[in-house]
Amino acid sequence: MTILAAISPRSTGKTTAIWWLLHALAARGYPAKGFDADESEQLYRWWKARPEDEDGNPLDGLSFEVEKLASKRFHEEAPGKLPEGSIGAVDCGHLENHAGIGWSVLRVADLVIVVCASTPGDVERIEELPMGHFIDQVIPKRADKKRPNTWALIVRVQPGTTVAPTGVRDDLKALGFNVFTTMIPATQQYAGTAEGVPIHAPGSAFDELVTEMETRGLISK
Ligand SMILES: Nc1ncnc2c1ncn2[C@@H]1O[C@H](COP(=O)(O)OP(=O)(O)O)[C@@H](O)[C@H]1O
Ligand SMILES: [Mg+2]
Repeated sequence: MTILAAISPRSTGKTTAIWWLLHALAARGYPAKGFDADESEQLYRWWKARPEDEDGNPLDGLSFEVEKLASKRFHEEAPGKLPEGSIGAVDCGHLENHAGIGWSVLRVADLVIVVCASTPGDVERIEELPMGHFIDQVIPKRADKKRPNTWALIVRVQPGTTVAPTGVRDDLKALGFNVFTTMIPATQQYAGTAEGVPIHAPGSAFDELVTEMETRGLISK
């Protein structure tokens, strides 16, 4: 059982990342389950609106559920709702407005994904929160009394640019974060994610991210 959670101070691309990751994991044969820990319920609504056949089976053949759990008791409730051997992928609300639920999620997360858009402004918001301190505050409340494994994911990278993402990567490393090599480009494919829109994850940047997570030993079957 592994719980991975997407966090960021403000809107960056968390829900999009978790939604694509769920598809990428399921397509690669991982039993996966989504948790919508954001009161906006966007992830849950996307899941509810998945294209289905007349028997109610998803057209893409990927069976995973998304459960609403925007609660400060997430740490008590989620582990029991995740089947043995599954990966739980949690979409959190913006930490600047939803700190309580965020802390609860961080108490049980095995892998924290700090979703950062490829702009200096987003790194500044991480610095101002400050995100590292925010995460460290849950250490005493965690079963292992350790900082959760934390990796930054750079998203919305303008295709063809290297200066901006390199700067963001260096800044995130300077703040003490591990940073995934895989970056998510800013493309219509991802921007067009919405209710009822089919997702094809194989071959996408999120498929590549699953490979990187496997290679780094962050997830396994
Ligand atoms: N890789 C991407 N490329 C282009 N647009 C993106 C990408 N990821 C997210 N977006 C867009 O950015 C906005 C915020 O994304 P969202 O996933 O809702 O972020 P959050 O959950 O952090 O608020 C949305 O309009 C979404 O379509
Ligand atoms: Mg969101």
